[in-house]
Amino acid sequence: MREKEPFDLTGQVALVTGTSRGLGQYFARALARAGADLVLTSRDRSSLAPFEAEIRSMGRRAVSLELDVQDFGSIERMAHAAHAAFPQIHILVNNAGCNVRKPALAVTWDDWNKVLDTNLRGTFFVAQAMARSMIEHGYGRIINIGSVTSVFGYAGLAPYGASRGGVRQLTMSLADDWGQHGVTVNCLAPGWFRTEQNKVLYENQEWVDYLVDRIPVKRPGEPRDLDGAVVFLASESSRYVTGQTLLIDGGISTGATRATTTKPGGKAG
Ligand SMILES: NC(=O)c1ccc[n+]([C@@H]2O[C@H](COP(=O)([O-])OP(=O)(O)OC[C@H]3O[C@@H](n4cnc5c(N)ncnc54)[C@H](OP(=O)(O)O)[C@@H]3O)[C@@H](O)[C@H]2O)c1
Repeated sequence: MREKEPFDLTGQVALVTGTSRGLGQYFARALARAGADLVLTSRDRSSLAPFEAEIRSMGRRAVSLELDVQDFGSIERMAHAAHAAFPQIHILVNNAGCNVRKPALAVTWDDWNKVLDTNLRGTFFVAQAMARSMIEHGYGRIINIGSVTSVFGYAGLAPYGASRGGVRQLTMSLADDWGQHGVTVNCLAPGWFRTEQNKVLYENQEWVDYLVDRIPVKRPGEPRDLDGAVVFLASESSRYVTGQTLLIDGGISTGATRATTTKPGGKAG
């Protein structure tokens, strides 16, 4: 029998949460291109119709389900419906997330709960709901979406950073718990990518210049920069990788904070 290509996901099913827009759609497309069938989710299932059609046009099977990760009942219903559609789900990308961008003194109780409940509690209970059957099958790939704020603090992002730091720690705990059952759990941590969640920031050229100055490869991320990482972590090739946080950030996590760019003949800031 011919061995599978190392990143071939043919015959596998991936569930990606939060696929109505943004990075979730890019993760889903990358996995579909590698051969996976898809379960797509949104709080508004009808919003997924065009994207479901796109995935089907790639020759993959796709199912759209309603999911609000702030609601435990919704998670349970989604997991049940996903398994009714596909008996085995091999890959989970825990992508659904939100942000509230405010100075720490302006953060309200409700802001905190919204961000932590979505990004941290939601991530855990979706992983738990999907891991039950992964453990029964003795195989699973869980990819929790983190952020550079999983490892760094930024002003204006206190609840978000707390949630993303929590996702990194959660990833290590789940990896330790479920590795013995053939389930790997990793955290894919994007740097700065322009999407719906942060588009206002990119309208401010001064901010963009400041950002790019701090990124060693000298540009913000483009969603295709994440394709290889998500397929690797979803594939058989990552079988000995678990509990890790993989930063895809153009190197900003090197801590390259500079007031001015170092140019030939210029001075480091
Ligand atoms: N963009 C970046 O630079 C960046 C960097 C690092 C990490 N991230 C993280 O990557 C993920 C995707 O980011 P993005 O920029 O693509 O964000 P986005 O454009 O705002 O999309 C967020 C997705 O999450 C879903 N979602 C939000 N709240 C939900 C809830 N309570 N229950 C279920 N689904 C929910 C949304 O679906 P519905 O509204 O349709 O329900 C949407 O599909 C997020 O977790 C984000 O924090 C982004």
